[in-house]
Amino acid sequence: MPKRIDKNKKKCYNELRTLKKEVNAMQYKVELLTGIRPTGDLTVANYLGAVAPIIELQAQGVSPVVFVADLHAITDNEPATVRQYIYRVVADYIALGVDPQKARIYLQSDIAGEVTTLTALLARLVSVAELLRVPTLKDKLKNSARPETANALLLLYPVMMAADILLNRAKKVPVGEDQLAHMEVTRLLARRFNKRYGEIFPIPQVLQVKSLRILSLRGRGKMSKTNPGGAIFLTDDAKTVASKIKAAETAFEGVMNEKLESLILIAKGLAKTGSERDEVDAIIEAHKKGKPVMGQFKQILTRIVQNFLEEFQSKRAEITRDPSYIQSVLEEGAKVARENAIETLAEVRRVMQIGP
Ligand code: TRP
Repeated sequence: MPKRIDKNKKKCYNELRTLKKEVNAMQYKVELLTGIRPTGDLTVANYLGAVAPIIELQAQGVSPVVFVADLHAITDNEPATVRQYIYRVVADYIALGVDPQKARIYLQSDIAGEVTTLTALLARLVSVAELLRVPTLKDKLKNSARPETANALLLLYPVMMAADILLNRAKKVPVGEDQLAHMEVTRLLARRFNKRYGEIFPIPQVLQVKSLRILSLRGRGKMSKTNPGGAIFLTDDAKTVASKIKAAETAFEGVMNEKLESLILIAKGLAKTGSERDEVDAIIEAHKKGKPVMGQFKQILTRIVQNFLEEFQSKRAEITRDPSYIQSVLEEGAKVARENAIETLAEVRRVMQIGP
């Protein structure tokens, strides 16, 4: 065979190989990805807003990938504090119904090398001015942080989130309203990268979960761990639940308001049976007609929350009885996450011409 044809053949093979790699890289690898910041104990509002939608999708046959975003959490928390919550939040998620047989759970810092490398490489594709315009950062700088004291990780927060999602080549990311702007940054970075260096990132989709606005039981604002008196924690015992609900604000007879709507969301979201939900509906109907039934409503609400927490807490106790269990779940998760991340990063390096 003449040498020239042989050379051409080789070139064709190489091109085909590259093409195959790119087609493979363009495919989604993870159906559903979500990250949780381990910064405190969960409240029932966290469960209803963030965990319940994932469990519902899992029940429909989707295999979610859940990761603990400990690197994101150190943006505004000491690593030693964050560390305390990692195992706790994993135990919570499993006890709430994320099933390690169906889902995968991994720790972000188990692939810290890949995450931080991709963060740096993606950061080249966005300007400082653009990052300063991200609404979540703007709000934060207006309300609680100052550029003089906020650390630079805050600026990179959405870029690192993009790295999480793109390393996994995730298809859908369920997020609440507060994370929509970050998802836009992810999509923007993926498009810019693809355009500049070659199509290797499939564009992730936002799966907007309906935002549940659950207010603090007392006082202003949303239910949050920063106002513990107005929040029901998954760790609360029956007595604490009863006294918190007793002190909760409701509404005058015949009146509906956001406080009462929040309590109804909690009651219906945590109820185990349809008949409990019917009971709640009947009481609220009576309330709307002007009957004095708030005391009765609180009794039912208390019973529903106590039953939910009792079941959760006993499952959780079972899960944490063997300390190596959670570790093994995280190890399994890390294996697959690492494999995917290494593969993606190799593609990134190849098209960017970084390294050998
Ligand atoms: N920013 C998310 C939050 O505060 C957590 C997070 C980090 C995340 N990386 C992610 C969520 C990737 C989804 C996908 O809740």
